[in-house]
Formats: sequence, structure tokens, C-alpha cells
Amino acid sequence: MAEPELLISVADYARAATGNVEKGVLDYFEGGALDEITLRENTAGWERLKLYYRVLAGVDNRDMTATVLGQPISMPIVVAPTAFHKLACDAGEIATARAAKAAGTLFILSSLSNTAMEEVFAQAASPCWFQLYIYKDRAITLDLVKRAEAAGAEAIVLTVDAPGLGTRERDTRNRFRLPDGLRVENLAPLGKGQMPEVAGSGLAAYVRENFKADLGFTDLDWLCGSTRLPLVVKGVCRGDDARRVAEHGAKAVVVSNHGGRQLDTAPATCEVLPRVVDAAGDICEIYVDGGVRRGSDVVKALALGARAVLVGRPILWGLCVNAERGAVEVLSILRRELDEAMLLCGCTRISDIGRWLFAA
Ligand code: GLV
Repeated sequence: MAEPELLISVADYARAATGNVEKGVLDYFEGGALDEITLRENTAGWERLKLYYRVLAGVDNRDMTATVLGQPISMPIVVAPTAFHKLACDAGEIATARAAKAAGTLFILSSLSNTAMEEVFAQAASPCWFQLYIYKDRAITLDLVKRAEAAGAEAIVLTVDAPGLGTRERDTRNRFRLPDGLRVENLAPLGKGQMPEVAGSGLAAYVRENFKADLGFTDLDWLCGSTRLPLVVKGVCRGDDARRVAEHGAKAVVVSNHGGRQLDTAPATCEVLPRVVDAAGDICEIYVDGGVRRGSDVVKALALGARAVLVGRPILWGLCVNAERGAVEVLSILRRELDEAMLLCGCTRISDIGRWLFAA
């Protein structure tokens, strides 16, 4: 009998996920926009960066604790908002929330979840935040925000890089849609729980029909005035935009290109991050996502000035392979790798990690 495969890296989970879910689902989770150049560049960018580690630094036990918006987390690796977790495993977003709880880290629930936010937040530990898209109908958007507040969300993460959906050709070819029995659960009571029946991607059609395409700073101002929760703006690619959103009230920004799923040929997030840190790091917190697959990538992100790193696809691979336990395992692999990278870089605390790691 063949030995069961040893799953010791995020890449192992990615490979194992291939055998566990159907191709259309995996294509949706893994795919990017158009030629998938940004998708590849995100990972390649971290790989290209090299760490000039320090020796004889007297590092003993590492302390990986950090905070996001003042909330303590056990490590600066947090769960990114990604859609439709019941495509990965039956327990869906409940599994993800519980995995984040087990890891002692932040969980960000996507608006586009297959489980209602009230159910998910009831299972989640603090910190837990809610990701939001602005719908054309403000009443729908406001309803989501008020429900998130009531359900225990502690911040709103507004995604601003999706006024329309980038064309994911894999999804167009596969005619991606949710299977019978699954819905966009948070939106179901508002009559927006189903994707339209169309020839191409059902999700692209859903976004065209529902998301506000002419999103602007007036929408950000409106949202700031409509919630008591702190606002995080996700999907920023430029220093000037980062500064402006912070000046309009955002408490944090996420340097992100939506995992290479929106504008193809947008720069890798590792290239954008230092510009955003220089432009706005004095007035808001800055996080980053996109292509983080190793603990050393996390060190690089923190060295460039990020306060935390969001991981999306690695968690999905964990869910596909072994539901909650898979996601827990992926987070513990990244934790172990971050710990090792800190030891080998000569860093005892997160605050020891800095730009000095890029220059000898
Ligand atoms: C949803 O946010 C997606 O990128 O598919």
C-alpha cells in the first residue's frame, strides 16, 4: 500500500487539494485574471526578494505576537476574506472561523460566504472582521453593515478593487456558478443570494448586476459615516491612494491586487508595499496579501513595513484537503516557518524585523 502523502508545506496542500475537489472549483479558487501574470508575479515577487540575515544575534525563543487595530493576535499571519468555502468542505466558513480561532489569529469573513454571518461570527473568536462590497443598492449595503455590527464583527474591510470582476477565463470556460443548494448566504434574505444563469461566469454576471461600478470617495465617506466600526480598505495599489483613503477615515489599508484576480499586469504586492508604507505608514496600519506561501515571505512583508499578512489560497487548500483540520495545519506550517525564518534572520521579536534585512 502506498504511504500516505506527507503534507509539510503549503505547496503540499496545494497539490493534495487537486485530488479532492472538482476542477471547476479548483480553477475558481486558484485562477487569476486574463493571462494570470499578476497571479504569478505575486508569488515570484516574494521569491525574488533575498534576506540579508544577521548572525550572532543571540536569538532564543521568538515572540511572534502582534496586533491589528489594537487587537492582539498570536502571529502576524491572518485569514484573508475569500468566497464560497462550502465549495471546499461541507462545514464551509464555520471550519475556517474555527481554524483561525485555534491559531489565535484574525479571521476576515467574506460577504460572499456560503454561511450566514450570524452563524459564522457565533463560532469565531476575536478578532473577527467582515469584508464588504458596496452594492448598487445602498439599502443592501447598509443592511450588511448593520447585521455585521450586530453579529459581532469588529471591523469592516471594504474591498475597493472590484467595481467589476476581472475576467477569469477559467471561470468563463467552466461557466462557474454555485451548485444547487449553495447560495451567497448573507445576501439571500435581500434577494441577492443566487447567481444569474448566463453563458460565462455566473459570478461575473452577479457582480455586473449588483456591485457599484462607479465606486468613489463619496462611497467611502458614506460608509465611514454609516458604521461605528473601524474601516479597513482592501485592494490598494498606490501610495497616493493609500494616503487618501486614510485621510478619508480608513484605519488600515490592505495592499492587494485581489490575488491577481482583478487587473492583470498590476504589480506584485511586494513591489507596491514599500511605496504604500512610505506614503501612508505614518497615518494608518498597512497589511498585505497575494502570493504568500512561506514563513520567509511573511518576514519579507514585515521587513517592507507590513503589520500583518493575509493568506487566502493556502487556507482554501487546507479546507479542500481536510476541512477545519487542514486549515489549522496550514496556519501552523506558516507559523513554524515564520518562527524558523526569524531565528535564522536574527530576530527575536516582530519589531526586530525591518528593512535592514534587504541590505548588507
Ligand atoms: C471574490 O471575491 C473573487 O475574487 O472571486
